[in-house]
Amino acid sequence: MSTKDKIIVALDVESCDKARSILERLDGHANFFKIGLGLIGKGGLELALEMKKRGLHVFLDLKLFDISNTIENAVSGLCEAKFDFLTVQGDPQVVKAAVKGRGAYGMKILAVTFLTSLDREDLNQNMIKSGAIEDLAVSRAEKAILAGADGVIASPKELILLRNNTHCTKKIIVTPGIRPTKSAINDQKRVATPHEALKNGASYLVIGRPIYQAEDPLAAFKEIQKEISQS
Ligand code: C5P
Repeated sequence: MSTKDKIIVALDVESCDKARSILERLDGHANFFKIGLGLIGKGGLELALEMKKRGLHVFLDLKLFDISNTIENAVSGLCEAKFDFLTVQGDPQVVKAAVKGRGAYGMKILAVTFLTSLDREDLNQNMIKSGAIEDLAVSRAEKAILAGADGVIASPKELILLRNNTHCTKKIIVTPGIRPTKSAINDQKRVATPHEALKNGASYLVIGRPIYQAEDPLAAFKEIQKEISQS
């Protein structure tokens, strides 16, 4: 797989029109995009369907969390569009229901471990009082994989631990929290450069603001590819 196929561009922009203009700018260069919660209420699902029809790879980042029956129905309703990746929360009962709802379709179910914007202090606030965040993330990933997830979303800081875990070693690991050398960190806390993340075992990198907020998103995308291949 070439480096370009490993970069998933997060389209966390304010409107579908803006997302379409980024798609146009990156046409023929990037082919994997993420549609998340920010666009869903603004026509994001229709855009995702349109992108699939154009032959692009689509990661639907809905981070679903609900009772099993609702998860199963929600996931089964999303299957026919043949989206490539769908996220659910990593709780084993949620993952199991999602895998059941997906049935024989090819859409990969990815489990969210902990958001890359969280650190130990945030976990304290969430009443998870002990344990290093990396160890907790690996344990959550392991449970999700055992429940049937095809892979996990994890911070680049957990990659080595995950790849050393018997259950996760061959699974898909998608890492947000990626910052090219010269980019601002924004609200992310557990970050790495694209090169570090790939070297440590990421299957795919999710990159949003460093691309869509750039004056020229195509130049930023190409710069990231260059940074990866030169390191
Ligand atoms: O703009 P930035 O590159 O920080 O975007 C990261 C993307 O990855 C966002 O769309 C965010 O929702 C998503 N994400 C994350 N942490 C997770 C799961 C998803 O940042 N654990």
